[in-house]
Amino acid sequence: MFKISFRRISKAAALAALILPFQFSPALAASKAAQGRQVYNTYCVLCHGSNMVNAGSNAPDLRKFPKSQKARFVKSVKNGKGQGKMPAWGDILSAEDINKIWSYVKTRGKI
Ligand code: HEC
Repeated sequence: MFKISFRRISKAAALAALILPFQFSPALAASKAAQGRQVYNTYCVLCHGSNMVNAGSNAPDLRKFPKSQKARFVKSVKNGKGQGKMPAWGDILSAEDINKIWSYVKTRGKI
């Protein structure tokens, strides 16, 4: 009566393994942005401000950076801009880190 079918459990586990990644993908995206926020808070916050709200430096408001221009974002972050006013991060941040910051920038600081 209390016999548990191993076969049934392993079937359920296999099904869960198939379905869960799809169910949690928005959460995964959120965690990518959250990780980006951490990288941002380490390297960018000084000039671009907490939650991307500029606290008076000459750095542009990243909440207004066009979401359609990821390539420009990556290029500017890697190579810097404005003769050193915006530092180049290519030697410091990995492509993955820059991608994470991009996920955060797309939230407009609202996480
Ligand atoms: C030392 C201050 C400083 C730091 C730190 C800094 N920035 Fe900037 N950033 C600037 C300034 C100043 C500009 C404007 C440069 C210009 O257009 O002349 C800028 C511009 C930008 C732009 C716009 C580039 C474009 O194509 O218009 C992006 C995107 C950017 N920064 C992202 C970042 C990210 C991401 C980080 C962290 C990895 C970061 N910045 C760290 C000062 C800084």
